[in-house]
Formats: sequence, structure tokens, C-alpha cells
Amino acid sequence: MNKTRQIDLGTPASTAAESVKIEIDGLPATVKAGSSILRAARESGVDIPKLCSTDNLKPFGSCRLCLVEVEGRKGYPASCTTPVEAGMKIRTQTEALSRIRRNVMELYISDHPLDCLTCSANGDCELQDMAGAVGLREVRYGFDGENHLDAPVDASNPYFQFDASKCIVCSRCVRACDEVQGTFALTIEGRGFESKVSAGMNEGFLDSECVSCGACVQACPTATLMEKSIVDHGMPDHSVVTTCAYCGVGCSFQVEMKGDQVVRMTPYKDGQANHGHSCVKGRFAWGYASHRDRVMKPLIRENTSDPWREVDWDEAIGYAAKRFKEIRAEHGRKSIGGITSSRCTNEEVFVVQKLVRAGFGNNNVDTCARVCHSPTGYGLKTTLGTSAGTQPFDSVMDADVIMVIGANPTVAHPVFASQMKRRLREGAQLIVVDPREIGLVRSPHIEAAHHLPLSPGTNVPMINALAHVIVQEGLVDDAYVHERCDLDSFEAWKAMILKPENSPEAVAKTAGVDAHSIRAAARLYGGAKNAAIYYGLGVTEHSQGSTMVMGMANLAMATGNIGRSGVGVNPLRGQNNVQGSCDMGSFPHELPGYRPVADDEVRNRFEQHWGVTIDPEPGFRIPNMFDAACAGEFKGMYIQGEDLAQSDPNTHHVETALSSMECIVVQDLFLNETAKFAHVFLPGTSFLEKDGTFINAERRINRVRPVMEAQQGKDEWLITQELAQAMGYPMNYESAAQIMDEIAELTPTFNNVSFEFLDEVGSVQWPCNEAAPMGTPIMHIDQFVRGKGLFVETDYVPTEERTNRKFPLLLTTGRILSQYNVGAQTRRTENNVWYGEDLLEVHPHDAETRGIRDGQLVALASRKGDITLRAKITTRVKPGVVYTTFHNPETGANVVTTEYSDWATNCPEYKVTAVQIAPASHRSGWQQEFAARARQQGKIAETN
Ligand code: SF4
Ligand code: SF4
Ligand code: SF4
Ligand code: FES
Repeated sequence: MNKTRQIDLGTPASTAAESVKIEIDGLPATVKAGSSILRAARESGVDIPKLCSTDNLKPFGSCRLCLVEVEGRKGYPASCTTPVEAGMKIRTQTEALSRIRRNVMELYISDHPLDCLTCSANGDCELQDMAGAVGLREVRYGFDGENHLDAPVDASNPYFQFDASKCIVCSRCVRACDEVQGTFALTIEGRGFESKVSAGMNEGFLDSECVSCGACVQACPTATLMEKSIVDHGMPDHSVVTTCAYCGVGCSFQVEMKGDQVVRMTPYKDGQANHGHSCVKGRFAWGYASHRDRVMKPLIRENTSDPWREVDWDEAIGYAAKRFKEIRAEHGRKSIGGITSSRCTNEEVFVVQKLVRAGFGNNNVDTCARVCHSPTGYGLKTTLGTSAGTQPFDSVMDADVIMVIGANPTVAHPVFASQMKRRLREGAQLIVVDPREIGLVRSPHIEAAHHLPLSPGTNVPMINALAHVIVQEGLVDDAYVHERCDLDSFEAWKAMILKPENSPEAVAKTAGVDAHSIRAAARLYGGAKNAAIYYGLGVTEHSQGSTMVMGMANLAMATGNIGRSGVGVNPLRGQNNVQGSCDMGSFPHELPGYRPVADDEVRNRFEQHWGVTIDPEPGFRIPNMFDAACAGEFKGMYIQGEDLAQSDPNTHHVETALSSMECIVVQDLFLNETAKFAHVFLPGTSFLEKDGTFINAERRINRVRPVMEAQQGKDEWLITQELAQAMGYPMNYESAAQIMDEIAELTPTFNNVSFEFLDEVGSVQWPCNEAAPMGTPIMHIDQFVRGKGLFVETDYVPTEERTNRKFPLLLTTGRILSQYNVGAQTRRTENNVWYGEDLLEVHPHDAETRGIRDGQLVALASRKGDITLRAKITTRVKPGVVYTTFHNPETGANVVTTEYSDWATNCPEYKVTAVQIAPASHRSGWQQEFAARARQQGKIAETN
């Protein structure tokens, strides 16, 4: 049997609190009431044969292999569909049962190719196991009757194949797609002998609704649905549990290895964020880690027009340190800085901010959270007292009303979306506040009660209008507010919210949503027993991003929806470790644990530990670094795993800033867009090589474990450490575990955390310390972290970015499922089959008035620049709004975005840009320059 297979207890666990006593094969057992006999037996160490059941799907009772005898009952009930009862006496092995099971297996095997020894599932096939378990030695029916042995193989999906000749029509795949993933892409067509699994309307998997999550592949007990990597390389021989390096859901995976080669990633059932589910990115898109583009040797060059020169680690690190020291000597202590990465581990991030503070001698450190969730940190800390979401993902299963604002979970946080959809199918109501009709608004068995398609930039008036109705119609939870919140701030907020300009009728025109819908949505949210808010970058990436975060916190506090399961204000954080990179002190004004660098007591603690004096003055944020670079005052940057040139807004400005610096050091897997401006390139490691921790959107600290040595020869924390040493600051960790020990010692919310502890308990949600030794799934239970919840007035200040006759449309941006952010990883995988280029979504009305056809090249122009891309005509966007993604560097979506940003945190306003579109015949000037630069850099790379 496959050594890496995870335990399958047959049917889902019972949620009952009580136990019952039963007898199985003459032995007493105490099991949970409500368990199936199959599960109770397996938990008691008795393996009843089974095929159609598995423990993450409801029992189905179709294969008839799991039959048992129950004393006092007639016949042979299926153990997977029969619940235990107190005093039940069950027999799982009798002559009659053996005979029936052999007959069942004989029928299956007579219509199955007898190629076990050469089958890719050999050793990992439940059919094979069951044939052995029931003692099937021969098949009496022969193989020449009617059968399915010539059924075709569908290999259209890039990652898995469907070999219909091996299908036993157990329907596990269909049920996995329905119950676990919630896509409903598969059906069983036909009846009896004719029945077969079909994707979509009898299409291939690739053309169907399938989103390639792999749940069906995992559920399939035979080799019918099988990963191509297993077909190509064979079965794994060992595995390591680690954490996905894509999004903030933080799914746990079992990385399955054959020798030193990864052959499969299987979602880990005990993963507390994903419970054994995954999406296409985490499960299949890991090939980038060994892509030929990956740089394996350090590179240096004097000028960015010079060819790169391959050097050894000592020379590269020594060269970077020398140039940084020269800059510092000439331009002052504050002329250099560093950027940490939300793709890296906490330990890797911690040492970078320490290098900047202790080695560079300033606080010029910032992180990519600046451009995504910095308003979350500000807004939630101000109102509730802590810079993070309030709930675990599982809390959604207790929500009665779910409000999704500015987020598209089915593409950006797919595994959480599947869980949310499960709750919606159980009956929870859904409100979607988004300019686009995202997939959740209408999907199989789900229809939002309200979709408020507001105009980009009008979140704040919308949240104020929702709150207006709550206050005006008496839906405030007065007892909660009086007990838990700051009453002066509540009264001031209430007076502001009741102003006529915040009524739905007044906001309707601004937001482009009718007042009746706003009122109905507010009543639904305000009247719910448990109402939960989930939000994303559609909230934060605005000039009033922080205001909106506080507006949502106000609404949740006013309705008593914080501090228990099923409620809360929950940021769906983008990158795998964006929460952690913020927690680790990546902001220029805060040391680890969000403690102000200006606070003497906090600073002293770090100074004593680090043996240096820390600058009390906050450093530059990313946009300040760019401005200072353009002004000739900021000259050097150490950039860990972040592609500023592609991901930051107003590309022209970013490129000018990067070009004007004297030393840029990029540490990454690939020569990314920023590396085109770099003088030193330090090759990084993929998640498969990292030892450390990531923190997901629910504050869960998950272990990241290496399955192989650092392929380029050095762990990333060690690269930073050696750079610190070369700069003259002694940093002497011997392992990533030691770095976590220091984080725990210096950061009160992490006091109890260590690798050893995490390996023992799986994962914990911070705060994890003496007061909460096993972590804190739900925040603010008895009181808010700040004491009394603070209401903040959220007056609407429209963005300065306005439409006019020249730029009459509003551009907003987002993601798609198969690609990830700047695409550095996913573009180097087969995921490109789903989405090879960024498209511009245009409403049919806007397209028609401009003579734009579907698929046509269009010019997209803003006040900042212009690009061209292909049009996709769709009613998902409303008239006046266009939408695109930013996954491809050659598209340059950020050429058109503006420098406007959140008033509190400088988070860029990616979501609102006034634009015009027109048919085009050629690529834009910037795109042509980009292509020329890419060719030139390609030549440089070839010549080194
Ligand atoms: S493809 Fe696999 S899971 Fe689906 S019905 Fe066939 S054997 Fe069962
Ligand atoms: S891969 Fe996922 S979405 Fe596609 S058919 Fe299988 S379960 Fe459904
Ligand atoms: S949902 Fe996010 S964390 Fe989970 S597998 Fe997909 S990308 Fe990875
Ligand atoms: S496992 Fe019970 S009927 Fe198939």
C-alpha cells in the first residue's frame, strides 16, 4: 500500500457530544453517538471493506461492500449509512458477508482492466486493496462480455487524466465536486451499465466548469482520476507536511516525494485551515520551483546596462555590503533601506527588518502589505485594538448572514470559498457588495440575497448608508454597545451616520445602487443572529481604505457582531504570509508585534537584545522611498522577494525611482521586473526548501518544512545574516528555529510559539502566550483588545481621481483563479492554459458605443499612461466600469494606475482609475519599450 496515504475513517465524524457503547465482533467499544457503523468500527481498529464511502463525503451506500450483520436485524445493512445505536452488536466478518463481498468485487473486477502491475495506481488503489481484503482469487464471468475496457482517456486537463476504462462509478468524484468544492462540474450520466461520469455537458474536463481543484482526483478510489505526475513518475515513497506558498488561506499539504523528486501535493486532512481541500494553485502549480528560469548562482554587475556576472556567494554578499556602506558613507545613514516579502517565512522576514534596523541603522523597512492590507492593520487596530481578523475560517459555518465586500473568494481564496459556499447551501444568506457580479452572486445552488453593484470608490458612503438604516430602524444592539464599546465615540458616530447625506436615498446616486436594495441588505445584516463580514482588497486599495475598514468595524460593533463564532470582521488576506510579514515588524514605524518604534520602553527591549541603538524615528514607507529616490536622497535598496516594478502603482514613477538608485539588491527565484534595475541578484529558495512558519488570514501560525536542501546552496535567512555580518553587524543564528525563539521572546503575542510546539500541536492562532497557551481562535470575546470598542466617524471624502469627458470610465482591478498576483510563479506552470493574458472586461453597452468587439485589442488610457490589451465583453461589469487583472508584466496594468493612496497608510488606490478605451491596432509605447528591455536583458542573461 502507498506509504503516504492519509487515514480514511470511511464517513465524516459525528458532531454529537455523547458516546454510546456497542459491541463489534464480540469486543466492546465506546463510540460517538451518531457515528456510522463503518466509522465506529474503523475508529475501534476494525477495517470493514468499503469503496463508495470516504470520510470527507456524506455516505452514499452504493457499492454494497461494507455490509455487516447486526444482531436482531434482518438482512445486511450497509455500515456506511447505518448509525450506531447503544447496545448494538455488530458482526463484520462472517461467511455470508465474505461471500457477498466477494460477489460484489467479482462484478467490479470483471469490468476492469487487469493491468494492476503496470497501472500507475498500483499500490495506491482501493479496488486492488479491496480485492485482496475480500480474498478474491478468481473472476467467474470472464472478460469477454459487455464492458467498458475500451472507454477513452480524457487527458485534456494539464494536471490529471480521466481513464474511463477504470471507473467503477462509485460517484465519489461527483460528490467531492459537489460537497467539498461546490462547483458541481460532474454528473453520472445514464443508468445501470450505461452509467458513466461526465464533466459538464459531456465535455472534456478542460472545457467543462471544472476549476481543477483536484478534490475528485483525491476522492477517486481507483486510477480513473489520476495525477499525470504520478502516471509519469510513479508512486511516492515518503512525504512531508508543509504549507502552501500561494494565498492567505494557508492550506496544509502533504508533499509526496519519490526519492528527492516531488511527485504530488495532497491537501492534508489535519490541516486546520483547509481540512483536506485545496485549489489548483497549491495542489498542482508547484512546477515553477524547478523551472529553467530559476537563477541558481548569485549575479553582480556595476551598471544595469552591463551583463550579469556569475559569482560565488561571498563575492556577491561582499559586493552588496560594500556598495551599501559606500552609499551610507556618502549620502548618510538614511539613504538605504529594505523591503520584506509576504511570500517569505516569518523567520526570513524578521532577519531582514532586523538587518535594516540594526545593520543599516534606520527604520527604512516596508513590505508588500503596504500595497494591499495596510489599511486593515490601521483600521482594525484603531477600532478593536489589534491589526488582524477576528475569526477562524471555521467560524463561517455558524454565520447566518455573510456579507462579502470587495473580495472574490472563489478565485482569490478558493478553499475558504468552498467552505463558505457549503454554509450558503445550508441556508445562510449572502450579501455581495462589489462593482462586479463576482461568481458568488450566482453559482450552482447559491444566489445572493442582495448584490449591491456599487461604483468603484464608493465603499464609504455605502457602509455609512447600511449603518444609517441599522441606526434609523432600531437594529443597533444597545446592550452590546453599552457593555462593550466607548459610548462617547458611539454617540458621535451615531450623529454622523444619521445625517441625511448618509441615508440610502442620498447614497443611491453616488454609489449607483438603488436605495431599496441598500435598505433591504442592511435589514438582513442587522436582523441576523450571527452576521459576518468578509472583505478583500476591494476595500483596502482605496484612498479611504482605512476609513472603510473602520466603517465595517463600526457596523459590526453596533450590531453586536464581534466576539463569538459566526460573526466578525474578516480580512481575506492575499499572500501566504502577509499577516506574518506585518506581525514581524516590517512597517517603518513598528517593531515586531506592532509596537511603536518611537516607544522608549519597546525600543529598549530590542536594543538590549540586539546590542545596538535603534533609531526612534519611523523610516520611509515604499512610496516615500520612491519619492526620495527621485529626489536623489535615497540610493540603495535590499529587496526580498518582491517585484516592485510590476506590482506597485504608477509604473513610470516606480521605474524612474528604481533607475535613479545606485545599488539595488534583489533576492528572488527569478530575474523579475525589478531585477532589470538591480546591481546584485541573490538567488532565493522556493517554499519546498524553506524551514520556518507562515501566518494565514486567520492568524494561524503554520509550519513550513523543507522537503529538499536549498537548491542554490543557501537558506534565505542565512543570506540576510551574512549580508548583516558583511555590513558589520554580528548576526549569528544557527537555524530558523532559533530565529523563531527570538521572535517569541521579544513579541508578547508569540511568547509560547516554537517549532517544537508547532510540530506537536499542528498550528496555533496568535496571541499564543501564557494567557492563551493554545492560541486564540476568536478575538475580542469578553472585551476588545483595546478595552472598549472605539467607533470612528467615517465621513466620505471622494477620491481625487474623477471621471471626466476625456476619461469617462472607471477601471478596477482584481485576480483570476489560475494566476497569482504578478504571476511570477503561476506563469511558469501549466496554469497558463486557463489564462495566458490579462483581459479587459467591458460592458456590452460601453463596447458598442466605442465599436469594440470581443477579443479585439483595445487601448486603455488614463492620466498616467496607456497600455493595450484584449477586450472581453461581459455583463459582469456594469456600464461605466471596466476591469482587468495584473498577472502579466508585459501588459503593464499598473502603467495606468495612479499615485493616489489611502490617507492613513499610503496603500495605493488600485481600485479606482479614470480611463478611456478605444479600438487599437498595436501595442502601447510602454509595452514596446518593455519588450525591448526584456529582449536586452535576455541578451545580457545569455552572455553571462
Ligand atoms: S472516476 Fe473514480 S471516483 Fe469517480 S466514479 Fe469513477 S471510480 Fe468513482
Ligand atoms: S477538479 Fe475539482 S472542480 Fe474539477 S471536477 Fe474535480 S472536484 Fe470538480
Ligand atoms: S486556497 Fe490558497 S493556500 Fe489553499 S491551496 Fe489554494 S492558493 Fe494554496
Ligand atoms: S462503502 Fe458502504 S455502500 Fe459503499
